[in-house]
Amino acid sequence: MSKIRIEGGKLLTGTINISGAKNSAVALIPAAILCDEETTILNVPNISDVDSLEEILRCLKAKINRESNSVKIDSSKIENTIIPEELSKKLRASYYFMGSLLGKFKKVEMYFPGGCSIGERPIDLHLKGFEKLGATITEEGNYIKIEAKELIGSKIYLDIPSVGATINIMLAAVKAKGQTTIKNAAQEPEIVNVATYLNSMGANITGAGTSIIKIKGVSTLRGCLHEVIPDRIEAGTYLIIAALLGKNLTINKIIPNHIESLVSKLKEAGVNMEIGTDYITIKNVGEYRAVKVKTLVYPGFPTDLQQPLIPFLTQCNGTSKITETIWENRFLNIPDTIKMGANIKVVDNRVATIKGKTRLRGMEVSATDLRGGASMLICGLIAEGITTIDNVNHILRGYDNIVEKLKNVGANIELI
Ligand code: UD1
Repeated sequence: MSKIRIEGGKLLTGTINISGAKNSAVALIPAAILCDEETTILNVPNISDVDSLEEILRCLKAKINRESNSVKIDSSKIENTIIPEELSKKLRASYYFMGSLLGKFKKVEMYFPGGCSIGERPIDLHLKGFEKLGATITEEGNYIKIEAKELIGSKIYLDIPSVGATINIMLAAVKAKGQTTIKNAAQEPEIVNVATYLNSMGANITGAGTSIIKIKGVSTLRGCLHEVIPDRIEAGTYLIIAALLGKNLTINKIIPNHIESLVSKLKEAGVNMEIGTDYITIKNVGEYRAVKVKTLVYPGFPTDLQQPLIPFLTQCNGTSKITETIWENRFLNIPDTIKMGANIKVVDNRVATIKGKTRLRGMEVSATDLRGGASMLICGLIAEGITTIDNVNHILRGYDNIVEKLKNVGANIELI
């Protein structure tokens, strides 16, 4: 099992280029199988979640050619075989094969997905959406069968604006008969990225990025070239690192608008930033004030940046507060952060108060989940002495080349 070893306290200088968005890529790759020709996706991040999707595509007999950051996928001869359980379980986003295989073959049989243990993570809204389109669903333990004689466009109201359900319903509806309307749809930039990809293939989707998405079914989808948007969570993670350790550190190739909620919080805490069209530079580290943060759906503060923000809050003067409203179990990183010297209290697994600022000491800690792992890595970067993080496969699932990116700007970090 790999570990990451960090000697903390080094200031970081230079440029970090942000990769393509994990949460877009993991939806775009399953979406590719809806196409009847070859499609090319550019700016795909090199992360193990993409490796797992590549394995799934191979298992479905799609042709896939991955070179550097470009992925060519030809699904013209794809077979609707059952994805092995160990592959489905490798990542949460394997659930997008439910929508895309259902959309293509009107039938899918597979195992429930895996992913981080940050909460209960039900997929009832995805399934209700498929049922509204005319599918019947049979569940047997961890195995699910979804099939429809015909998929027919329908009006679907989501109880919660779920990212996964919005995308999955789009995938299933793109070739359905007639019009589908998703109300209370999630509005994350990744949804717009997926809709744009499908539209480039010839789909007819309007309203992505708003709470009402309309999908008029089409019968065929053609090949196209598409680019993954910059990863706003990766960008935010490095921006937090820059606020703590940046000396002329630029976070480059980003869409600053996509991380406005974080930028605004960092400004409130006293972070000085130079914001360009596709970059943010932090010239110097300052003294910061405590802030209150509540996670919300986009464009609110993203739950995926809540854990990476915690090390920053340990360095703010005063009492900060984080309220997690999306996931039930998203403070798994806190016990190790306290072990390193932080003063944090958690109430009901939903609210954390962080008293700062406190010195953190390097020690052996663990990555409990993807963003929790990133949080421990940031703690290691600012701590005195050596921090060793185990279970780093969680971090590598979602951060492209993280060790090299940090080494290149002066961090003393290695994968062991
Ligand atoms: C996606 C992201 C994840 C992020 C999350 C919220 C991917 C691959 N992952 O996850 O990084 O943390 O959005 O921004 O894009 N819910 C239900 N029933 C459902 C679906 C969701 O009750 O059928 C609830 C969930 O328990 C959760 C909330 O809705 O409380 C939001 O979940 P959702 O937006 O679906 O998250 P994911 O798409 O799984």
